[in-house]
Amino acid sequence: MISYNAEKNLITLSNGKMSYVVYINPRGQLETLHLGAAWEGQEQDFSARPYVGGPELLDRASGKMYNAQNTYGVHREISSHGLGEKKDAPVLIRRENGSYVTDFRYVSHIVYKGVKPLTSQPHAKAGKDNSETIEILLRETSRDLYLTYYLTIYADKNILLKSMSIQNKTEKAVTLDRLYSMQLDLARSNFDLYHFHGRWAQERDLVKTPLSDGTFEVASNLGRSSHEQNPFMYFASPSATSDHGEVIGLNLIYSGNFIMRAHVNRMKELHIVYGMNDEDFAWHLSSGETFEAPQAVISYSLDGVDGMSQAFHQFILDDLMTYKHNHAYKPVLFNSWEGCYFNFNTESVISYIDDAIKIGTELFVLDDGWFGQRNTDRLGLGDWYVNRNKIDLHKVMAHCKAKGIKFGIWFEPEMVNPDSDLYRAHPEYVPGEPEAETLTLHRHQLHLDMSNPHVVDNIYQQMKAFLEEYHVDYIKWDYNRVVMEHFSPYFNAENQGEIYHRMVLGYYDLISRIVRDYPDIMIEGCSSGGGRFDMGTLYYCPQIWTSDESDPAQRIAIQYNTSLGYPLSSIGAHVNDHPITPYSTKAKLAFFGTYGYEMNPNKLTESEQAELSEIADIYVRYHQTVVEQGTLYHLVSPSESNDMCMQCVSSDLSTSIVLYMNKMKEHGMSRFVRLKGLAPKTAYKNSFDGQTYSGTYYMQVGLDLTHKAFGEFSAQLIILEEV
Ligand code: DGJ
Repeated sequence: MISYNAEKNLITLSNGKMSYVVYINPRGQLETLHLGAAWEGQEQDFSARPYVGGPELLDRASGKMYNAQNTYGVHREISSHGLGEKKDAPVLIRRENGSYVTDFRYVSHIVYKGVKPLTSQPHAKAGKDNSETIEILLRETSRDLYLTYYLTIYADKNILLKSMSIQNKTEKAVTLDRLYSMQLDLARSNFDLYHFHGRWAQERDLVKTPLSDGTFEVASNLGRSSHEQNPFMYFASPSATSDHGEVIGLNLIYSGNFIMRAHVNRMKELHIVYGMNDEDFAWHLSSGETFEAPQAVISYSLDGVDGMSQAFHQFILDDLMTYKHNHAYKPVLFNSWEGCYFNFNTESVISYIDDAIKIGTELFVLDDGWFGQRNTDRLGLGDWYVNRNKIDLHKVMAHCKAKGIKFGIWFEPEMVNPDSDLYRAHPEYVPGEPEAETLTLHRHQLHLDMSNPHVVDNIYQQMKAFLEEYHVDYIKWDYNRVVMEHFSPYFNAENQGEIYHRMVLGYYDLISRIVRDYPDIMIEGCSSGGGRFDMGTLYYCPQIWTSDESDPAQRIAIQYNTSLGYPLSSIGAHVNDHPITPYSTKAKLAFFGTYGYEMNPNKLTESEQAELSEIADIYVRYHQTVVEQGTLYHLVSPSESNDMCMQCVSSDLSTSIVLYMNKMKEHGMSRFVRLKGLAPKTAYKNSFDGQTYSGTYYMQVGLDLTHKAFGEFSAQLIILEEV
């Protein structure tokens, strides 16, 4: 998959479907030659030539002036800063004399099977069977600073990984003011950039921005990947559709501040840099130390948006998630939060469990409010012991066991309320300058200083004490505020530019220890709904609570859009008692995620129970093979039309499930939905009109939904089975 042509100095990464080609120019700079369809053997077409478009160079010793020779242009893997070019460089290092000049040149390279794991943060699996990596060592021209550049290609999917690390082999410390994970330069810039914008309960609105001259950025400086933006985004050729055309998807295996800048220059070329946000970032890199950037993931598709999405889905499930049940069945979940908030006791929870079982619940989750003095959101965070005056958790868990269902619990480990035992005992456990007059509260809570190892250890010990006594099957790991104070009393002045990143590393450290000690517990990520829906969290959590908004009127877009970058099996989706849409609509939408409930189950009527149980039964029967392990097709986007349609096809092509929803009423509309991914010659019976047609018919003529007079927000879940 990775070859090196020593004569032409070309590095080619190719998997038969796509290729990425890098040229090492005579000055040792890495130039980007090609990202696109596979080309192997076309290397002879490339011959380096003098480049006359760039600045002339002056050789200071000889006084000779010359144009750079033997170059293909200015498309670089890692642009220099402060000399030779004026691009947004992915790495900035401040040296002792104040200079920012950074210019890395090729030294050597090695190629190996698999991926080099990062030491302190989530990363793609070693994956020796399906991936190959080239590790290129570069040296800063004037001192012993080394940059190791990693490029990985996968054999079974169009995924490339890029990342870098810096090693300081000089005698003195240097300051790393920026280390992004990747640069991508293309000679073409005719793309639309699609990214997510949003807010609490309205996460991941899809925004389309046609690229034009100048710079556009997508970023978070909130300490988490955030509701406001998301690390997943894609560049699509304007003519690309869901299954045709060029689409380049980007993501970052990281949960904290990120930034992507796309610049179209005067020559209409595209220059992208992407990585950890360098706002307020300055890493003090002592002599002998190494700093590693997160891995960036590029999904390259010539088969439209779904080609890009499907590669990301496969990568996340097969090559990223470490959770041992990443392909496993996700139980039907009942979460207590919206049903009772903080108001519960042992008897009421047991009555919830009994009624939740009637609608197919297989995992009961007790959300916020079971610990410390936590009867409102003003107190108790940080005190992770059971409030025995409120709840007898042993009794509740024994009840679940007796009824044959699993039990899960809520934590928000990275936070503390000022009104808590933990804060009273350790006011120094929160970030912020000790002499500051105020600290910022969000939802009445403070962020813990997760950069301080003592804080991480304290919370770990508390969680461990709980988990040793209560053998839960599941944890919902919440995170309900952003980082404001990014000053740690634990660190010296020279390290204060590291705090945002160190807080993220503290999160990873804590969750890694829990996963290591309790590998059977499934952890679901959460952050005021979907404020930390990212690849860093998915490394540990096979599913993430997608949004606190469960009303399909809003959810329809949240789930559809989220699934463009993330697999359905990671999208936590619950039916609640929001009155605008019937339970059946809410349940069908939740089915296209990991199905669950969040309401007062005591209030459900028998017919509502029956409606919900029907979908729960379909979930148990089909979800794992068709939705979790199948292939997803986005057929109609709710952002572009009155309806929304998604389709999953099992990997053996024997079964397919279609979710069709409309927003406004549709009276007498002609509507044929053309399906995808079926076996052309196979006959499939559909559950909508009971008819049997061939795969070709469904794909070319379509599933006929005409004249079915759908009311507002009605949903159809249609099963096609091979007959
Ligand atoms: C925010 C989450 O998104 C909710 O589902 C719930 O767990 C609350 N936090 C509890 O405080």
